[in-house]
Amino acid sequence: MLVATCTAVFAQFQSGSYGSKKANSIDQTAPDQMSSDGNFAVASFPSFTPELAEGEGRAETESFCAMCHSTRYITMQPPLPAATWETEVNKMIKTFGAPIPDASAKKIISYLETHYTPEARKQ
Ligand code: HEC
Repeated sequence: MLVATCTAVFAQFQSGSYGSKKANSIDQTAPDQMSSDGNFAVASFPSFTPELAEGEGRAETESFCAMCHSTRYITMQPPLPAATWETEVNKMIKTFGAPIPDASAKKIISYLETHYTPEARKQ
């Protein structure tokens, strides 16, 4: 009898089958169904564009700096020194051909320098 029970239990261990009715077993959820054709779907990544800081020049920044990419390119930067923002805006105009009039570019630069520098971002 004892030998028969031990053999049955050992057979179960070997087969890797631990029935849920067995004492001390941990019920686990069924594994996800595997895709049969190797195709699977993923949801789209959440895309969040934070609002730009309130202030003079925000309207120009929102319209001119969102023509080619979202304004997240501004908010996702680490706080940049004022001179870097000026270089950045000039790069958008000269290198990438952003059609931004001089007056608006000046406003945008001073807006970015007021709100997105290490000093401004500390608060
Ligand atoms: C003519 C299209 C265009 C406009 C308008 C534009 N950008 Fe860009 N911007 C680009 C391109 C192209 C890149 C580089 C793309 C990339 O790396 O994904 C870029 C990248 C950036 C980056 C990432 C750092 C870098 O230098 O690559 C920042 C910051 C940025 N832009 C800020 C601005 C700001 C501020 C404005 C408004 C003054 C602006 N952009 C307007 C085309 C533009």
